[in-house]
Amino acid sequence: MRTQIKNICCIGAGYVGGPTMAVIADKCPHIKVNVVDINLERIEAWNSDDLNKLPVFEPGLDEIIKRTRCKNLNFSCDIEEKIREAQMVFISVNTPTKIKGVGAGQASDLKYVEACARQVAKYAKGHTIVIEKSTLPVKTAEVIKTILEDYQMFSTNDNAKATFDVLSNPEFLAEGTAINDLENPDRVLIGGQNEFAINALSQIYSNWVPKNKILHTNIWSSELAKLTSNAFLAQRVSSINAIGALCEATGADVKEVARAIGTDSRIGSRFLDAGPGFGGSCFKKDILNLVYLSKHFGLVEVANFWEVVVSLNNWHQHRISRLVVKNLFGTVTGKKICILGFAFKANTNDTRESAAINICKDLLEEGAILFINDPKVVPEQISKDLLVNENKTLKSIESQNLFNYEGSWCSEDNLEIAASNADAIIVLTEWDEYSKIDWDLISKKMRKPAWVFDARSVIDEKKVLAADLNLWKVGNGSI
Ligand code: UDX
Ligand code: ADP
Repeated sequence: MRTQIKNICCIGAGYVGGPTMAVIADKCPHIKVNVVDINLERIEAWNSDDLNKLPVFEPGLDEIIKRTRCKNLNFSCDIEEKIREAQMVFISVNTPTKIKGVGAGQASDLKYVEACARQVAKYAKGHTIVIEKSTLPVKTAEVIKTILEDYQMFSTNDNAKATFDVLSNPEFLAEGTAINDLENPDRVLIGGQNEFAINALSQIYSNWVPKNKILHTNIWSSELAKLTSNAFLAQRVSSINAIGALCEATGADVKEVARAIGTDSRIGSRFLDAGPGFGGSCFKKDILNLVYLSKHFGLVEVANFWEVVVSLNNWHQHRISRLVVKNLFGTVTGKKICILGFAFKANTNDTRESAAINICKDLLEEGAILFINDPKVVPEQISKDLLVNENKTLKSIESQNLFNYEGSWCSEDNLEIAASNADAIIVLTEWDEYSKIDWDLISKKMRKPAWVFDARSVIDEKKVLAADLNLWKVGNGSI
């Protein structure tokens, strides 16, 4: 049986749902794509005339939104109506790690996914293909299926005539390159059993993805492949950061080591950049899910193996704040420090699990005064992450009088002001503009002796040293 899908609903207008649906709408003008969310503010931002106000910053996304919005792409809070109209419903809601109860700190909290499944069960009409897009622990599709089927069995509601297929279709996009990842994916993975449903989804992707890149697996393999993919990537980052620490201690340079090992085609050259530690919404959560699953199945050694990837990342982030304090004569109390970058990577406004959060928190705890610069992250988000409100008065106080304000922070767009009278600059996100800083100019503004801590290895070493600044560069023991 072949059915042309003409109407899609995506529940969840976040970093995954928004860009993914925008690209589907762009590539499939014959399909009506409705993105719904319970968060009215977010929906209003997606509908904003000013494309700079979209809730997700992603290079190229604004152009696609301009082309598709109000044509075949629509953002709204009409969850009931849009589910009812849809032949296919994507579940793309957040799945945070549980903070209490069974599996706290490791297992994903599926309350939002479960709520969605119940909404779909209640409102869907006719045959509906339900697709799990959120990163989910293995066997979640089964939970969704049970909720949908039980509703049919026990409901007296008219909608109980609806029938369902459930597929897993994990998203592999990386933030900052999401549009390219969606337009030219390495692969599209579809996990499921029902051929009709698999074909319907494959047909959508085959509008722009070559057929040989659309992989079919059983549903659990698909769910596990997503967790494994992120675990392998995160493991590479922890591995190179571990070697970076060894390089610093021994006089080697992790960039040279990475180049040397990356030319081995079995290892490959990507994902070998030492940094301040991985962030983002997926890596830590997915590994902790694997750890939880492994423990559940009695595989303690497997759980321990993966857990170390996360604990090393944690250690590495705190290691950076400790070495800043050590180099500033053992204390940062009352000292001004300029933070360059708060997002978890460049080209996104997302700060989830950003290394900057732990590093800034440590420094605030030590009494530092932080001037934080990020081209895309708004101060309100930084306040939420640091659990300390921005102290805007810092901006109007002469730099030399700041020492009274220990443990506070403000945002600063102007780099010269952010660096003025600072004892240190710490680069935490690899934004392009930080690689073009005029270090001569900045050095003149700083209090001496002054330090630059480059946790991303993106600044020009020679220019920093020539400007009479002390330099620490992640993984480089040869400076
Ligand atoms: C990741 C996966 O790459 C993607 O496939 C999945 O769908 C979601 O999770 P994302 O978290 O958006 O994507 O970004 P990614 O590029 O993977 O980076 C994750 C973190 O690792 C960032 O903090 C990044 O700065 C860091 N990283 C990455 C490094 O420190 N070094 C590297 O070499 C690569
Ligand atoms: P991701 O990175 O996985 O896209 P986000 O947190 O950016 O995660 O987005 C998830 C979105 O899902 C949020 O905007 C949230 O409001 C939305 N959401 C969560 N639960 C529901 C629900 N039951 N119905 C509709 N939207 C929901």
